[in-house]
Amino acid sequence: MCGIVGYVGPRDCSDVLVSALTKLEYRGYDSAGIAVFENGKIEVAKTKGRLSDLKEKMEREGKPQGHAGIGHTRWATHGEPSDVNSHPHSGRRVTIVHNGIIENYKQLKQFLLENERDEFLSDTDTEVVAQLLDFYYDGNPIRCIRKVLHELRGSFALGIVFADRPETVYAVRCESPLIVGQGQGEVFIASDVPAIIKYTKDYYLLEQGEIAVLKNGAVQFCTLHGRMLEKELKTADFDEDSAEKGGYPHFMIKEIHEQPTAVKTTITPRIEGGMPNLSECGITPEVLEGFNNIFIVACGTAMHAGMVGKYVIEKLARVSVTVDIASEFRYRDPLLTPDDLVIIISQSGETADSKAVLNLVKGTGAKTLAIVNVKGSSIAREADMVIYTHAGPEIAVASTKAYMVQLSVMYLLAFEMAYAKGRIDDEECKRLTLELVRIPEVIQHTIDRIENVCRYVSTKLITADSLLYIGRGLDYALSMEGSLKLKEISYIHSESYAAGELKHGTISLITDGMPVIAVATQNSLFEKTLSNIKEVKARGAMAIVICDQKADIGFDCANYIIRIPQISEMLMPMVATIPMQLLAYYTSVNKGNDVDKPRNLAKSVTVE
Ligand code: F6R
Repeated sequence: MCGIVGYVGPRDCSDVLVSALTKLEYRGYDSAGIAVFENGKIEVAKTKGRLSDLKEKMEREGKPQGHAGIGHTRWATHGEPSDVNSHPHSGRRVTIVHNGIIENYKQLKQFLLENERDEFLSDTDTEVVAQLLDFYYDGNPIRCIRKVLHELRGSFALGIVFADRPETVYAVRCESPLIVGQGQGEVFIASDVPAIIKYTKDYYLLEQGEIAVLKNGAVQFCTLHGRMLEKELKTADFDEDSAEKGGYPHFMIKEIHEQPTAVKTTITPRIEGGMPNLSECGITPEVLEGFNNIFIVACGTAMHAGMVGKYVIEKLARVSVTVDIASEFRYRDPLLTPDDLVIIISQSGETADSKAVLNLVKGTGAKTLAIVNVKGSSIAREADMVIYTHAGPEIAVASTKAYMVQLSVMYLLAFEMAYAKGRIDDEECKRLTLELVRIPEVIQHTIDRIENVCRYVSTKLITADSLLYIGRGLDYALSMEGSLKLKEISYIHSESYAAGELKHGTISLITDGMPVIAVATQNSLFEKTLSNIKEVKARGAMAIVICDQKADIGFDCANYIIRIPQISEMLMPMVATIPMQLLAYYTSVNKGNDVDKPRNLAKSVTVE
């Protein structure tokens, strides 16, 4: 999704803006631009394409020289990616960058046209905001911004410069995240902390409807109603190194390798005396005991973590769990009661549909629990309870370590809930918890053992047009994620299928050489899955099997076998995830794709 940055300080503003935008590239974008005060005038440079295209353009045509300005990476929503639709957009005296969507832009445009403002150059909703600001501007920027904010509908964040207010940047947040970084004599705005971490770790989090004024290396805040605000300065708990590739060729492979640490950091503070303890998140056995039904709602990979959670919670705690896609749940008038718990899982904590579910649940009496990675994000702040995953910044668009830590939290929750419901005694709870504590080591060992195998097997996938992932039970839940990971970065069509369901239609797709990746880590279901593997192999499929070291399977049944360490069946997903991530990664690398920034995708999906 779009990224916003801004700067006021002694450095070369264009360089700072481009460098900060580079750190937001992971969000996905198709054009980029900046606006900088040069000798009291706003100079704009923008282009369709990557930041490298913008840099080339500035080398050719001249880079704006100055010390205050705003910048943007655009992920097209209104109007195709083009030079003219790129941000910044300007009215006569106002230039802005914008993240999010203005829902009523058509009505506002009509209003402007009726009032003799017909200077629209682009198809964007953003330009309407620029023109509207201009229309109301009477020399008082704050009054003008407040007036316009009252007229805009949607979720958005804006960076604004006024031509007659040189060296000053205004910023406002309405739903879409925005932070203000405070350095030594310099200030920044950004959609996300990693954008400015190179310059400062100290930042303010703008809240709903708050306006920031950046001037003379300092910042002032006021509310939508014009009241001045003192805000708490926060400090990021990661540094530039963790937001960089650290010697790896891509963020994705770095993040795969970070998983042992991410899991350890996530679970260690939540274990006390060998038992899970989520009380710092407001979750006690008494609280958990009271819930009769659980709904897990999320999007994409986070929803897949919920699928694993369903199996584990239902099996251990015997509580009914429904997993739903946020964009479906919000429109299906769900039946919720005060005895229900709605768990929202989100890496970013800003996903529009997941956020909407949170708002919908409020008022039903059901309690909400957010499992979120980004501190202070909207979902984390608005839920009744929150468990932060401690994966650190996840930059690659394809989620890996965030999924893994979401799984680890699902297990902790299942153990604690099973204990609270009296389904397991403390001895069993401690045994399960201990196994989870040992998982980071097993993940590390698995990566070390199978990375090269996966790299090799991936060479067999690159020519495929289409493939299937199959599994049963937890392996099926897991294969959904394996399939998504592979398709999103390799661009090979892939579907995940419950292995036993194949013969009810889908098996007709099998042709000679079509890859079928079978996840067969559940011992109790192994024989059944093995039969399905034989069925597809007999019809010409190239069978790739992910199973444990002891699984009784040979090359008569499979073309390639990826063996992973054997641990208890229930925890296998945390290990079996690794080969699926590595297969996706190396297939994408071997196809020469842009692994960290797959086409059409954005890291944080802040639009519906
Ligand atoms: C895929 C991926 C997405 C996200 C989804 C939800 O690799 O990352 O499917 O899982 O967009 O995002 P969050 O977790 O930020 O709510």
